[in-house]
This record gives sequence, structure tokens and C-alpha cells, in this order.
Amino acid sequence: MSLTVVILFVDWLIIIFTFCLATTYILSPNSLLMNIKDKQKALNKIAKEIENCIICREGKIGVAVPGEGNPDADIVFIGEAPGKQEAASGRPFIGRSGKVLRALIQEAGLKEQDVFITSPVKYLPEYVTPTLADIEHGRTHLYKQFAVIKPKVVVLLGNTAAIAVLEQKFSIAKDHGKVIERDSITYLITYHPAAPLYNPPIKKDLIKDFKKLKKIIKQ
Ligand code: URA
Repeated sequence: MSLTVVILFVDWLIIIFTFCLATTYILSPNSLLMNIKDKQKALNKIAKEIENCIICREGKIGVAVPGEGNPDADIVFIGEAPGKQEAASGRPFIGRSGKVLRALIQEAGLKEQDVFITSPVKYLPEYVTPTLADIEHGRTHLYKQFAVIKPKVVVLLGNTAAIAVLEQKFSIAKDHGKVIERDSITYLITYHPAAPLYNPPIKKDLIKDFKKLKKIIKQ
């Protein structure tokens, strides 16, 4: 056997070995676990940044509410800002509007542990309704979370979420149910789940929009 043939044979062995190793890693359940673990670690780091963020904390009450759920979620729900219960606990959507949201999520055939829930504004403002400055700053943290989670579908719950993420104002009464495709992400605009608590007829529109979400997910 000439030296060239031996070198070619060894080259092929190396290529086959590398291919087998890469395939084993990609297909192993552990690699997926590793991926989710890394995403969780990255989200924890962002949560720490939010907790230490002086700009976020200015004029706000309570603890940070960075968001919760599956770090590898295909679907992310974006609200407005934490309420009193959220600011006391550090968990998003655990109050009355949270009950509405979590029921709608289940009705859409989703499990809470499969989605990620957060808000562009990570602290409860003293003045309750977030300012444009709060939204513009808060979204810098939100975008970092998106970069880790890489969602396929983002549900924008109300105008603050739409302004934060699409950087554009909408009339939710007119535009709810609208689907926007941007940068390989499907955005669905709908009401904030607190809306039907103040105006009950809105509930049927929210239900309709979540039925649309169910269809989007099935595609
Ligand atoms: N409303 C929001 O937008 N987010 C919460 O976490 C709670 C209420």
C-alpha cells in the first residue's frame, strides 16, 4: 500500500469518526437537556442583571419580575408591567389578570410549563402605567431574553407589549387578532388579560384571538 492510500484511509476514518460523534451528540436527549440548561443559565444571568439594574428600579416598587416558564419555549406571552401581587412575589401574572391569562393558555391547548410569560417592564411603576421611557428601557432586557429563548410565536397582550416589541402603536380594539410576521417570528396582537375584568364583553374577543393562536400553533 502506498503512503498516499494510507493517508487517504486515515483521513476517511477521521471524517467518519467525527460524523458519528456529531450525530450522537445532536440526537442524544442529553444535548437537548444541555441546551435548555444553558438557556436557563443565560436567563438567570439576565434576571440578575434586571435585579441589579438601577434604571429599571428608578421610581418602581417591589422586587423584579423578570418572567418565568420554559427557557426553550416556542411561544412567549408579553404583558405590560407587574401588578402589586407580582411585585411582592417576583412572579409574573399571578393576580386576577394572571388567572384570565393562564386559563386562556390552557384553553389554547398549551401547558404553562411549555410557554414563557414576561413583560417589557420588569418592575411595578409607582405611577402604575409605565411610561415610554420605562418601555424603551425595559425592552432592552426583553430583547436579551428573546435572543436566548428564540420563540417562534410571540403573543402581545395589549398596547404596551405591542409598542415594546413591534415599536409601533396599535388600536387594540381594531387590531386585536392581527398576525404579523417579522424576522421569522409570528406576532399575534390581542388584549391585555386585565381588559375583560374592566370591560367583560372583551372576553369573547380574547377567546377568539386565543382560538387563532391555537390554529397558528398547529400549522
Ligand atoms: N400585568 C402584566 O402585564 N404583567 C404581570 O406580570 C401582571 C399583570
